[in-house]
Amino acid sequence: MARLIVGNWKMHGSIAALAELDEVVAAMAETPGVDVAVCVPFTLIAPAVMRHPELTIGAQDCHWLAEGSNTGCVSPAMLVEAGARIVIVGHSERRTDNHETSSEVRLKAEAAIAAGLRTIVCVGETQAERDRGDAIAVVEAMVAGSIPAKGDARQLILAYEPVWAIGTGRTPTLGEVAEMHAAIRAALIAILGSEGSRIAILYGGSVKPANAEELLGVPDVGGALVGGASLKAKDFVPIIRAGRDNG
Ligand code: PGA
Repeated sequence: MARLIVGNWKMHGSIAALAELDEVVAAMAETPGVDVAVCVPFTLIAPAVMRHPELTIGAQDCHWLAEGSNTGCVSPAMLVEAGARIVIVGHSERRTDNHETSSEVRLKAEAAIAAGLRTIVCVGETQAERDRGDAIAVVEAMVAGSIPAKGDARQLILAYEPVWAIGTGRTPTLGEVAEMHAAIRAALIAILGSEGSRIAILYGGSVKPANAEELLGVPDVGGALVGGASLKAKDFVPIIRAGRDNG
């Protein structure tokens, strides 16, 4: 399976910042076997697609309804019309800041997949949950509660992002990553049967050029979800190359 390296720009970026993608696209030509996507703020989706139609551009959230009285929200069909081909749902920042529940994340994932978007469902434990020894149970429950009950599982991607590793410079040990990815894989197979064995499981949380190669080398790490280090091509391109080196 090709490794998938996804940038998550969060609430960063501008039209001018899209110039960073020029080098990313150039690097992609030299990294066959690595699948690259960049999830930008809603307002940058169409300009990014216009600048680089060959690059997979995505969003960081969507609503589950096609349309409605939902001030400030964006539907999957609207993302598709803007040119998005992938979307992140259930990021921990949205679960925390916007109080999103796993059942809402599941609705979003189902709607996004029905609209034809590849859909990255994020799961991950807090520091307190890990300290209590509950990390695996918490993540298994998030997987069971958040993944779509219907729709094309081939469009589904999981991302394991320990909350305490996001934006902190801290990462789990490689053994902890391997253990969690194996638990997520087992949960996916238990829920989806053989389809569950084909779903990519990304690692996210403080992925940097210095640690990308070792993290991507962990068994069943199918790629990376990269926040801060995706904003600048000088950081993101080496992570894309690390995907190839391990491929
Ligand atoms: P980070 O963010 O790479 O800045 O830790 C990852 C994410 O939140 O997806």
